[in-house]
Amino acid sequence: MKTICYIVAMRAEAKPFIERYGMEEVKDFFSPLPCLLYQAQLEGCTLNVVLNGQQHGSDLLGCEAASVAALSAIQRLHPDLVINSGTCGAFRAKGADIAQVYIGNGAMFHDRRVPGDDAWATQSLGNYPVWEGSQALAEALNLKMGKVTTGSSLDMQPCDLEMIQRHGGELKDMEGAAIGFVCSLFQVPVLYVKSVTDLCDSGAETYEEFSRNLHHACETLRNANEKVIEYLTSQF
Ligand code: ADE
Repeated sequence: MKTICYIVAMRAEAKPFIERYGMEEVKDFFSPLPCLLYQAQLEGCTLNVVLNGQQHGSDLLGCEAASVAALSAIQRLHPDLVINSGTCGAFRAKGADIAQVYIGNGAMFHDRRVPGDDAWATQSLGNYPVWEGSQALAEALNLKMGKVTTGSSLDMQPCDLEMIQRHGGELKDMEGAAIGFVCSLFQVPVLYVKSVTDLCDSGAETYEEFSRNLHHACETLRNANEKVIEYLTSQF
């Protein structure tokens, strides 16, 4: 695997990782888009980290910014593998813990309510495939797997929960399926590495729980990503 491209929404999620590899910013690479590129060379492999960038002084979250970043990254960098790494909500009832790192085994949308025939329903749900090596990697690194479920909000409405439960969603985020969608168009494989900041069934206020655990979750995410990179560079 010669070119790996991480796509990350929040600077806080990527910073420990960028510092660990001494990655350099490639200034204005995506100009006029807000996306930012950091690069390092590692054992014959180019490691890229693409951040969604900022608007109005805060990191761009969500499907629109993630799609722009994924599309631009794939067209400009031609990665062999896209890795969407970041934080997520998860479910205590499914055995999740704060700062636990998961590998995704699929990606769906949970807040697209489109009536109509099965074709519309199927398209709305997404259900994008992951990189075929995801399971072997999860086993080698002793990480649990779960289905990424993506929506445009940090909170969870009852209709979101109903959809998540009906389709086996486990790792609630705001970008994963959008990146899966773009990767599916280009037939570029995607690997999900997600660390839990909040438990959607804890009863706590989500933003407060997310903020309290962000630093810890980003540290475990960095440790996991170091192992992911080690695994990928030793295998290919
Ligand atoms: N990112 C971290 N926690 C999240 C949650 N509960 N929902 C969506 N995205 C998240």
